Amino acid sequence: MLEKKLITARFDKINPLSIDDYVEHGGYEALSFALGMERVDIIEEVKKSQLRGRGGAAFPTHIKMMGVAKEEDEPRYVVCNADEGEPGNFKDRYLMENDPHQLIEGMIITAYAVRANKGFIYIRGEYDKPHSVLQWAIDEARKKGYLGKNILDSGFNFDIEIRSGAGSYVCGEEFALIESLEGKPGRTRVKPPFPTQEGLFQKPTMLSNVETFANLPHIVDMGGEKFAEIGTESSKGTKIISLSGNVKKPGIYEIPFGVPIRDVIEQLGEGTPADRKVKMVQLGGASGPIIPEYMTDLTIDFDRFENFDSKTGAGAVIVMDDRFDVFDILLRISEFFEHESCGKCTPCREGNLQLLKLVEKFVDRQSSEKDLANIESLARVMHQTSLCGLGQSAPTALLSTLQYFRNDFVDRIEHPESQ
Ligand SMILES: Cc1cc2nc3c(=O)[nH]c(=O)nc-3n(C[C@H](O)[C@H](O)[C@H](O)COP(=O)(O)O)c2cc1C
Ligand code: SF4
Repeated sequence: MLEKKLITARFDKINPLSIDDYVEHGGYEALSFALGMERVDIIEEVKKSQLRGRGGAAFPTHIKMMGVAKEEDEPRYVVCNADEGEPGNFKDRYLMENDPHQLIEGMIITAYAVRANKGFIYIRGEYDKPHSVLQWAIDEARKKGYLGKNILDSGFNFDIEIRSGAGSYVCGEEFALIESLEGKPGRTRVKPPFPTQEGLFQKPTMLSNVETFANLPHIVDMGGEKFAEIGTESSKGTKIISLSGNVKKPGIYEIPFGVPIRDVIEQLGEGTPADRKVKMVQLGGASGPIIPEYMTDLTIDFDRFENFDSKTGAGAVIVMDDRFDVFDILLRISEFFEHESCGKCTPCREGNLQLLKLVEKFVDRQSSEKDLANIESLARVMHQTSLCGLGQSAPTALLSTLQYFRNDFVDRIEHPESQ
């Protein structure tokens, strides 16, 4: 059995609009238990679980929690990143639509551990259904005493508000999100200080992804050590994969870390329609690397993905069969980043525009050897010098195709011998 359902376990079993259903299936038990624990002990369990953030950067969650908990400045905030703007990712939407209280419970436990009394969920503007399901769930939780003042008679106060994004991809980046929450244009800040020190309204802020928070009740419930038995040496727990592209069964699948990409495509996705050959797979989303079929034995694991200077991202696996050309994909990706760059720093603002022009030359077969060299050097400069993750990761797909599909570029160069 390839799948391991931990945070998706309740999906087919409960009515997401019924808090009673959630409670009958063990919901809010972890919260009740956590409220009787010492705050440091909760963070210690998260440390033992070795949970790393599921929003893309894979940062150890307990370090962020400790960072916020030790700050004396008040108020402290808990912010859930539900922006999910990376093309190819849709797992947070399913988590919010199918089990909204799991996210809410995870946020309350986190807030208790880091001594925060106010939480926000920053949700992608297009996510109407998850937004209304979550709002309903928050209202129900408040009525039943899980949110608001004196939660479950513990003396702890915490409440959550939902704020909607306006369709900008960069607003998923932590500081751009914080600026947007503050009512300003969504642009990153220079780090340090980090959000744990000076985040929302310059106050200590624990900002995590939907899937990260969804794991918290399970860590409290089973204990950190037991949680850490799932997965691989570097990557503990499960990962929800958003599988899309040329597969017979696209969708979300929860797997333990360590499953090969090939098994996800062939066994869970049931292979390609008409059993065509897989040409390439993009990992993580538009900002992730594109690898050839022979590399799909690679297992899904944070450390292995770091070999390509990339992270697992948020877990997208986008499959493209042999009808596709790398430039079909590269053109769309370049247009996307050129459009989404916020313009604050030069390498990303100008670099994405120039990269798009260079890719268009290859698409039109008007390119030269010099263009190839320019793509390579520009992509590296952008990766190294852009201010935030958008500009740093915008060239990842290009750099990976230059490495694994170089002939596709060379074939499009006009008269290479005359250059
Ligand atoms: C351009 C850009 C977009 C991002 N979009 C998201 C997003 O939609 N959701 C998300 O959780 N993290 C996103 N991130 C990562 C966040 O900056 C941050 O690392 C993450 O929300 C932290 O949560 P985690 O520790 O639970 O992973 C994005 C980063 C960048 C650079
Ligand atoms: S890297 Fe791009 S998105 Fe990020 S601050 Fe610079 S211009 Fe804006």
